[in-house]
Amino acid sequence: MPNIKNKTGVGQAIDRVEGHLKVMGMAKYSTEFPVKNKVYGQGINSTIAKGEIVSIDTSEAEKLPGVLKVITYKNAEKLNTFDQVPTAISTTTIAPVLQSNKVHYYGEYIGLVVAETFEQAQHAARLVKFEYRKDPNPAIHLDKHEGKAYKPKDMEDYVLGNLEAGLSAADEVVDVTYTTPIEHQHPMELHAIIATWDNGKVMAYATQQMVNDATIAISDTFQIPKKNVRIISAFVGGGFGSKLNTERHVIMAVMAAKMVGKPVQVTVTRHQMFTNTGLRQFNIQKMKVGAKKDGTLTALAHETLSHTSPTQEFQEPCGQVTKMLYKVPNNRVTYRLVPLNIQTPFAMRAPGEATGSFALESAMDEMAWKLKMDPIDFRIKNDTQVDLSEKKPFSSRLLVECLRIGAEKFGWKERSMEPRTKRNGNWLIGYGVSAASRQAPYQKTNAKVILALEGNKVNATVRMDGTDIGTGSYTIIAQTASEYLKIPVEQVTVELGDSEFPVTPGSGGSWGAASYCNAVMAACENAVKTLRENRNIKEEEEVPLAKLLKRNQLKQFEADGSAEPSKEFNDHSVYSFGANFSEVWVDKDTGMYRIKRMVNVGAAGKILNPKTAYGQIIGGLTMGAGMVIAEQSRIEPNFGNFITRSFADYHVPVNLDMANIEVVFLPEDDKIANKMGVKGIGELGITSVAASIANAIFNATGKRMRELPITPEKLISAAVEPNVAS
Ligand code: MOS
Repeated sequence: MPNIKNKTGVGQAIDRVEGHLKVMGMAKYSTEFPVKNKVYGQGINSTIAKGEIVSIDTSEAEKLPGVLKVITYKNAEKLNTFDQVPTAISTTTIAPVLQSNKVHYYGEYIGLVVAETFEQAQHAARLVKFEYRKDPNPAIHLDKHEGKAYKPKDMEDYVLGNLEAGLSAADEVVDVTYTTPIEHQHPMELHAIIATWDNGKVMAYATQQMVNDATIAISDTFQIPKKNVRIISAFVGGGFGSKLNTERHVIMAVMAAKMVGKPVQVTVTRHQMFTNTGLRQFNIQKMKVGAKKDGTLTALAHETLSHTSPTQEFQEPCGQVTKMLYKVPNNRVTYRLVPLNIQTPFAMRAPGEATGSFALESAMDEMAWKLKMDPIDFRIKNDTQVDLSEKKPFSSRLLVECLRIGAEKFGWKERSMEPRTKRNGNWLIGYGVSAASRQAPYQKTNAKVILALEGNKVNATVRMDGTDIGTGSYTIIAQTASEYLKIPVEQVTVELGDSEFPVTPGSGGSWGAASYCNAVMAACENAVKTLRENRNIKEEEEVPLAKLLKRNQLKQFEADGSAEPSKEFNDHSVYSFGANFSEVWVDKDTGMYRIKRMVNVGAAGKILNPKTAYGQIIGGLTMGAGMVIAEQSRIEPNFGNFITRSFADYHVPVNLDMANIEVVFLPEDDKIANKMGVKGIGELGITSVAASIANAIFNATGKRMRELPITPEKLISAAVEPNVAS
């Protein structure tokens, strides 16, 4: 029974329990742990995109005071390397580094200098001289190498029905291509680690989203037992996917610690984060949509062409949304990859959905316009309660409700169907809508709760290896314990991010909240149940926790709990849904535009804490707006280096760019998803935002923008679509 008197249990908008630590600078991020005798490593990056190192001169660097070691492929520890190239990248893949003289992309690590101070290491790193045999033709641009496209190993072509037949049966066809640029995650906290090697044992303070997976990657790379690796990641200053896997600076730090016999700190600079900690790949998405005059979809196709590195393979699943969002009998989703001399891409917030929904939800808007149908009506007409790609019902799906309620909140009826007709002086005003869906996975998770009686009060400590990447995990875990132990949240201490704590899937993929909290609930319920059973307490008798411990004559008691997907979960398709609405004002002469208002309506199961959930959504909306207004990482076309090297040229939205935002959560309690009824929310907020803004730009200007970001100069030079009256 939930305790209705409990003002700090689940569903309450309490402040972050760790908030005061953060504002006082007392929350310890990886490199803030006091580790005695630590020294500093500075990575050195290649300055060619492809070729071989032919000579290395370390003499000048080694002469400098404080320099302890210069590590290159010549003297590096032998590590486990890939059996097959390309290897699929995952959150547990090994991360061999400094193993050969080959260079695969500009900025690849080719050395590490270890010195007593950070400044000495940085200075010395610049004095190490590399000579290369340079390959004159690195592959930098996707469009020049389309001929090398291949089908990624893990991504089968998806076919439902017969696409060509579906297109022939259509009254209208949309056949268009969308492109999205390379983007970088750029969490505020730089990637960093302090690693110690002691007698074959690794101890590391590292900023990682998934500590258990990091222990696997490190132990597999060094071929040591997993139990010999301990990772602490108590606070993580954002990850957005870039800290899901174990990057090579982690391996270099461990290697250096082993070689110099001291703890080594390696910080990846902001500049290095463009080439060494993952990126969202450049995607070319070809969309085909077929529909009858009445708006019934007859065909949908989504072909994604993208790039990966020469050594590892990754493709974000852009077509995922196209497989499940609408009722369409003929559907095709494919992926092709081209190896380029650019670092391996990896997951960035809502990998697949963020970019894929830009293509799908723009194409749906294009079709609605062709049919002269309201884009909300068009979507509702093609709603489905069954995931046709999985042949499973959705556990819950309030997409239609999100669209309808959002339309009401937003004032959709004030929209003018015909572009260029709603104006205010020089401003062309447009309204846009898009539908959002994001998988809400749930994974096996373990937790421990320790109860301690102090006077008449019980203090509880929850331990798990899960992480809080800024999302509010500490808070919702504390609230869950408060709820199921029926004690105030102030009496709950949450300890996270230590690989010696019970194993969890870590934070990523929008599975954190559901996984963590269901396991904590199980641990708390186990504790209470055991204490009651020990004293044969009857079901109807209410006994507060403190009394329960006293009746058991215990001062301290601990219990474990775990949670994992049920058969019912596996028999359903479990997604969170949402709808985005944007109002955009475009200056008709300069192409400058402002996002004036946004409304986001989400249905993501039970909302554990409306305040932290709201934070997740506005963060997602901001990243979604960033996709449209600014974010792109640019590569120099001949040399292959990123010419966006800092926030001076990689632009992200600031407060002034952001609209008035209204966020609404529809009440939902999805008991098929899991016992607590929780679905994921961390990635829902970014999904389809870009399409709602681009669709609003079309509604304002009659210009269909199919390439992100939509910068003012692109907008001025774009033509008004031929079927728009002007
Ligand atoms: Mo997320 S891209 O799984 O951190």
